[in-house]
Amino acid sequence: MLRRLLLLHVPRRHFSSSFSSALPLSSPTFAVFGANTGVGKTLVSAGLAASLLRSHGASPSGVLYLKPLQTGFPADSDAEFLFRMVPSLLRASHAAHLAASLDILSASPSVEILPPLPEEAAFSYDGEGEVVRKQLSCRTLYAWREAVSPHLAAEREGMVVEDAHVRSRLAACLVEGENLGKGDGEGEVWKLVETAGGVASPGPSGTLQCDLYRAFRLPTILVGDGRLGGISSTLSAYETLLLRGYDVSAVILEDRGLSNDKFLLSYLRNRVPVLVLPPIPEDPSDDLTDWFCESSSVFGLLKDALQSFHSTRIQRLISMQRKSKDLLWWPFTQHNLVHVDSVTVIDSRCGESFSAYKVKDNKMTMTPQFDACASWWTQGPDSNLQIELARDMGYAAARYGHVMFPENAHEPALRCAELLLGGVGKDWASRVHYSDNGSTAIEIALKMAFRKFSLDHGILVDSGKSITNERNIQLKVLALEGSYHGDTLGAMEAQAPSAYTSFLQHPWYSGRGLFLNPPTVFIRNETCTLSLPPWIQHGHLSPGDKCFPSLAEVFCKTRDSSSAADLYSTYISQQLSKYSLSSNREHIAALIIEPVIQGAGGMHMIDPLFQRVLVQECRNRKIPVIFDEVFTGFWRLGVESTSELLGCLPDIACYAKLMTGGIVPLAATITTEAVFEAFKSDSKTQTLHHEDLGPFYSCEVPAAHLLPWHLQPHPKKKPCAWDASELSKTSMFFLSLILLLLDSNLELNWIITRSSRRSMLTALLHGHSYTAHAMGCSAAVKAIQWFRDPSKNSNLDFDQMKLNEMWDGTLVNQLSSLPNVKRVVSLGTLCAIELKAEGSDAGYASLCARSLIQLLHEEDDIYARPLGNVIYLMCGPCTAKDICTEQLSKVYRRISSFNPVH
Ligand SMILES: Cc1ncc(COP(=O)(O)O)c(C=O)c1O
Repeated sequence: MLRRLLLLHVPRRHFSSSFSSALPLSSPTFAVFGANTGVGKTLVSAGLAASLLRSHGASPSGVLYLKPLQTGFPADSDAEFLFRMVPSLLRASHAAHLAASLDILSASPSVEILPPLPEEAAFSYDGEGEVVRKQLSCRTLYAWREAVSPHLAAEREGMVVEDAHVRSRLAACLVEGENLGKGDGEGEVWKLVETAGGVASPGPSGTLQCDLYRAFRLPTILVGDGRLGGISSTLSAYETLLLRGYDVSAVILEDRGLSNDKFLLSYLRNRVPVLVLPPIPEDPSDDLTDWFCESSSVFGLLKDALQSFHSTRIQRLISMQRKSKDLLWWPFTQHNLVHVDSVTVIDSRCGESFSAYKVKDNKMTMTPQFDACASWWTQGPDSNLQIELARDMGYAAARYGHVMFPENAHEPALRCAELLLGGVGKDWASRVHYSDNGSTAIEIALKMAFRKFSLDHGILVDSGKSITNERNIQLKVLALEGSYHGDTLGAMEAQAPSAYTSFLQHPWYSGRGLFLNPPTVFIRNETCTLSLPPWIQHGHLSPGDKCFPSLAEVFCKTRDSSSAADLYSTYISQQLSKYSLSSNREHIAALIIEPVIQGAGGMHMIDPLFQRVLVQECRNRKIPVIFDEVFTGFWRLGVESTSELLGCLPDIACYAKLMTGGIVPLAATITTEAVFEAFKSDSKTQTLHHEDLGPFYSCEVPAAHLLPWHLQPHPKKKPCAWDASELSKTSMFFLSLILLLLDSNLELNWIITRSSRRSMLTALLHGHSYTAHAMGCSAAVKAIQWFRDPSKNSNLDFDQMKLNEMWDGTLVNQLSSLPNVKRVVSLGTLCAIELKAEGSDAGYASLCARSLIQLLHEEDDIYARPLGNVIYLMCGPCTAKDICTEQLSKVYRRISSFNPVH
């Protein structure tokens, strides 16, 4: 009986690009794409299938031919063509038995005459030796009556099939096909997936077929075009496939007397075998038997080329775990704890998932894994955006390669700057400084803030044409405990001591800042709860100030007049005053915060009221405010910029990661005009009256160098009795020597400084090799626009310009009530869960989440990496909510039955 799964027309939606099945790898599987329609894909499939089944011995034991989309059905049925043709081509020289089958899974209601399916046939071939058994299965997945493009047929015949359905059915067939003929022998089962029309012909939903099947990334046979114009169409198809990350294993085309194959082979620089078939008879009454006979040696070559491609691929995949363990130095990894089998070999990425090579129960598979860390928080693309970005990268590379930036302009850099200033910098920022990663964006921001502070506070006095600089002044930051701003040495100075800054990690670390312990917010037992640091007495806040029915109340601006706001303000003022009293050399010259969520510090949500008050206190003192939005920016927390959540603006903000959608690195430090002004000058240099302060007694300098030295009161000691700076150079020299000989303790009261007048460059001297590289800027332009566009991003609430809730609220609440869960933070694309851990097992070094992560990895196909005892799921701004729910449900199930094994 024909199985008919008639699907109703449903409006097009954004669906996951992935499928949940692990695709078997042990047997070769190839996609057959055509440079165009009518180039002979089905003949190639048939010739190859016959060549495979004709092979001596038990392997391959079968060929599974899949035609996912068939139009013109039943008059045209490629599966039926193979079903009839291939057995007739098997004039085997050895004894063989072939069982062939033909079936179709769904046909549109317009297909009036349905053939009696499934059909089965058996064939025996005489020959020498023991009889070998082979199987041929020919299957159509979806069929339409009209011989037009699938998208048109689907629309006209009322059977539009969603991409996800096509993919999951195809995946199921590929998995099932692995068992074809099993029982008859253990030979390989080759699988051929023949696409419809050309590489870029649309599928039933309108998605191009090269995109529709991209998640599988099957190695590809490209059937080229031997006709006039065929070089162009074949190369266009080839490049279309390459731009989508396919590997073309062979090109095969008909000989039309134009030697297209020779040109193609030379153009492709012999990287891909190019095979040529004899001219295909044009007479429709020709049964093609002779042509297949004539072509059999070419199909033999094709089979060998594919076999070799497959073996090389598998060998490479098998060797990668060992090789990477031997050659690579992974960041944030204790290599001795990584077993070679646990190395994840990533074959490709498609949207939110990557395909990983896995061996399970001795079977090799390519398994889709949900990338729960969004590849270190960079990823935003769904599969559609990924393709767009890949195309834009190719275009930008081809157009610009790389071009240097100072005093130059190119379209992507300008366009990106406009988007940044009109978006995350709207109403406050007017300048964009590019760099290439988050840490450098931070270092640039610090340099900017320090200059601005120095000018505002008279540390750099711009008196006419001269500037006075006091080098003994130390500029520090105000920051929060648990903060993280990157791994470069300067960025690390701006963070509080942590696991990352210990002596073993960073012996230079001194922590140049005043670090405050902030109140945090989390969900526990379905309630948003404020967690207070020790400096706040619990009794000082009413229950209404500590528990909130929802996150919306936590962000509410009415809290500005609460007693919590007063407490915060008093505390911050006291800390700042205490600090400035303790030293007159050290100044808090910048506030730097990760707005709302501290990522690397453990996914802690800081009370937004506390950060708002902090910003205000710094504003009152003319301390520049830096928002480190490297992690939180560009919709990570459900809004484009976290300023919108905090309800206050910075002077400087840093962006990276999601800004480019995560396809290439690029960073931007954006600022107000006032900060920019601090670096402006009418000449390249300014004259600096420069005073290097140095301890008097330790000056081991030649006399010639001492000459310009003079005596000054020590800034922190007794005031000066007389001004020595007016002494002549010679008297100064002798005075220096006398003081040196007399009493080195004099340095308690006096220090000798060397005075010089020299020119100082005022421009910001900070640039990286790839500053404002065109590919990065182009990617940022695409990603920024895409995330903001409701026609591309179905999660966007356009009126409020924020993302709808991504993580199911009920599930989040249930998670927060589990006995082994300490807290949950769910905001925008992030859902973090801290497991309860005792004593030393808490924090970054915790191993408590390890076994849970392993289970998620192995059993649930979720690739996660813990932050100590915190596990988290992260999706992209465009990820469909059903994907999030599916992943969160898995995590919920796993945690609720989890008993940590330490
Ligand atoms: C808040 C924050 N700032 C800065 C950085 C550093 O960015 P990058 O890794 O691109 O140097 C990170 C990286 O995770 C981050 O989370």
